[in-house]
Amino acid sequence: MSPLADFQNEIYLNGLGDVLPELPTDLTRLEALAAERLTERAFGYVAGSAGSEATARANRAAFDRWRIVPRMLRDVAHRDLSVEVLGTAMPAPVLLAPIGVQSTFHPDGELATARAAASCGLTMVSSTAASYTMEEAAEANGDGARWYQLYWPKDRDLAASFLGRAKAAGYSALVVTLDTFTMAWRPRDLDQAYLPFLRGVGVANYFADPVFQKAVGGPVTDANRDTALLHWVANFGNPTLTWDDLGFLREHWDGPIALKGIQHPDDARRAVAAGMDGVIVSNHGGRQVDGAIASLDALPAIVEAVGDRTTVLFDSGVRTGADIAKPLALGAKAVLVGRPYAYGLGLGGEAGVRHVLRCMMAELELTLTLSGHTRPGDLSPDVLARVE
Ligand code: GLV
Repeated sequence: MSPLADFQNEIYLNGLGDVLPELPTDLTRLEALAAERLTERAFGYVAGSAGSEATARANRAAFDRWRIVPRMLRDVAHRDLSVEVLGTAMPAPVLLAPIGVQSTFHPDGELATARAAASCGLTMVSSTAASYTMEEAAEANGDGARWYQLYWPKDRDLAASFLGRAKAAGYSALVVTLDTFTMAWRPRDLDQAYLPFLRGVGVANYFADPVFQKAVGGPVTDANRDTALLHWVANFGNPTLTWDDLGFLREHWDGPIALKGIQHPDDARRAVAAGMDGVIVSNHGGRQVDGAIASLDALPAIVEAVGDRTTVLFDSGVRTGADIAKPLALGAKAVLVGRPYAYGLGLGGEAGVRHVLRCMMAELELTLTLSGHTRPGDLSPDVLARVE
């Protein structure tokens, strides 16, 4: 067996010494545990979605409508899940989705995530809204693979400064999130009147930035903290952006660029026309537009439109390793996993994140193998049946 699925053997062997996994291996159980153990605010923030949360439910329902059709007697002894995506080698087509404010789940926040990702060889995508700076996360990530996620701020000098810092800190690809120039109507947060940024969490990248500091009269201290928070509010997102603005990214970033939040084939075509290297089919885990199309339902038409011309990645609704096989079969080159590792972080810090990542990779490998496949490239829509 390859090292990924070996995690299964490791668990059984540990059991001979009466050592059991500290967290569930059915990753769908993490949310309920996190609900018990995280603060109400932190749990509401990560678990919550926009409005009635219909999009979040649709994301899951779409996964349930696709079923894997296992094939037999195909010699699946040798498996290799490794892929290269946007110039980054990965042991499996799995990335850690950008998630901000991770210190609300565990004091080590993004640093724990960065360490766990590096120890599994997986690529982390660092959020602009992180609670530690991108430089601190990079240091914790060491030789690990890392991409930087940009919330494109209104102040162009600040955007350019973020990109320069990310490059200097060893982030190799850029993910630009398009769907969150402002936070959606999120009742779980609204009911608790809780927005972490206004409490100074998730603003580390801004407060540490020389351009930001210049705009608020120097390094952020108690004296200018309110000014700094107001400046953050005024600059976080830019609703005036259009496709014509993408040239700015190219001017300030010489590595691969992927646009995150794409749900329509025409937007994917525009991304390709604008010279972008990838699109991430995502509805932000249902956190932005209530009543939106499930991200997995959006995927096939986007792959059909641009899959031969750009790298299509998938995000939103993934909860288990077995789930990952479905977007791969529908044409995604790799899949971003979000809430499961955030729950792992909240429940067990770095070890909790590592547990989630290892479960994901082992279960993905076993799912592929037991359905007759040895590598991600073997998967195609034919592997799936759609049920209503
Ligand atoms: C921000 O990225 C959020 O979804 O909370």
